[in-house]
Amino acid sequence: MRFVSVGNLNLDVNAFLSEHPRVGENAIAEGLWVGAGGAAANYAVMLASLGRSVSLVSLVSPLAVRAGLLQRLVEAGVDVSYVRVIEGEPNVALIITAKRELSRTVISYRGVSRQLRGDMVPSGDHLHFASVRPSLVLEAARRAPLSSYDPGGESFKDPRGVAEAVSEVSWVFLNERECKAVARDPSELLRGRSEMVIVKRGPRGALLVSADSRLEASAPSLGEPVDVTGTGDAFDAVFNAVFLKTRDPELSLRAASVAGALKSTRLGSSNMPSREELAKAFKDIYGEELEL
Ligand SMILES: Nc1ncnc2c1ncn2[C@@H]1O[C@H](COP(=O)(O)OP(=O)(O)OP(=O)(O)O)[C@@H](O)[C@H]1O
Ligand SMILES: [Mg+2]
Repeated sequence: MRFVSVGNLNLDVNAFLSEHPRVGENAIAEGLWVGAGGAAANYAVMLASLGRSVSLVSLVSPLAVRAGLLQRLVEAGVDVSYVRVIEGEPNVALIITAKRELSRTVISYRGVSRQLRGDMVPSGDHLHFASVRPSLVLEAARRAPLSSYDPGGESFKDPRGVAEAVSEVSWVFLNERECKAVARDPSELLRGRSEMVIVKRGPRGALLVSADSRLEASAPSLGEPVDVTGTGDAFDAVFNAVFLKTRDPELSLRAASVAGALKSTRLGSSNMPSREELAKAFKDIYGEELEL
């Protein structure tokens, strides 16, 4: 089974402070993480860490090579043969994480990744679109029998476009704020090909809505959360891996929630938990073996 992840590979610069700086303040960070990020890249690293075969589809500038981002993905086991290096501006995310309330401010700069087009997406068994514009989903979703879309911030930029694109994918992932921006109720997004809507609720877990069920999973507490960047991407990847193996939505939702919670305890956007850590945490919480 081949997974394809479409979207950004960024250089993430995450500064950790005890609280958010005030306007005009010259703040000193207490911690710093610099490395590979971007929703599609984080998702691909999580799948590779579960031993899945996954290809990343992204456009990057030469800075991604110089900064070792591509190398990092290769080492993680991600196929980067569909990542094109083109001359132009880098894709960068500047993140401020305030440790006290674990809130985040993200400033994303879309460089060459803005030029990503649907015809650059290969076919696969499952396509995942991570934080890409809805028109790209409309162009490429039919290249695979199964697909998912996590629009992220696109939900605020183009809520109507996102609502339209959702009908072209098999299931959609949104966090609570994004979901409110796109629909009054998640069930409104069950249309066209869309069979499931999965709503991520941070420390309050997750909700799955389909035509015949409404399931909830809690977010387990697995240690102190230190970095919530990438929690949603870890969640999406584990949901997809478990669902495509078992077709069990409840098990997939639980496993994904454990993955998100585990990621939150790890520093670094693409610093994903291992298969063994995930299986162990799942067993500790639910008393059952999780086949990954
Ligand atoms: N502080 C936390 N404590 C425990 N679990 C968490 C925490 N934050 C996130 N999670 C887990 O990770 C999942 C996904 O996180 P979240 O709801 O923040 O998604 P998101 O907003 O899409 O994240 P992202 O910022 O990566 O896009 C949650 O459903 C939950 O299971
Ligand atoms: Mg998200």
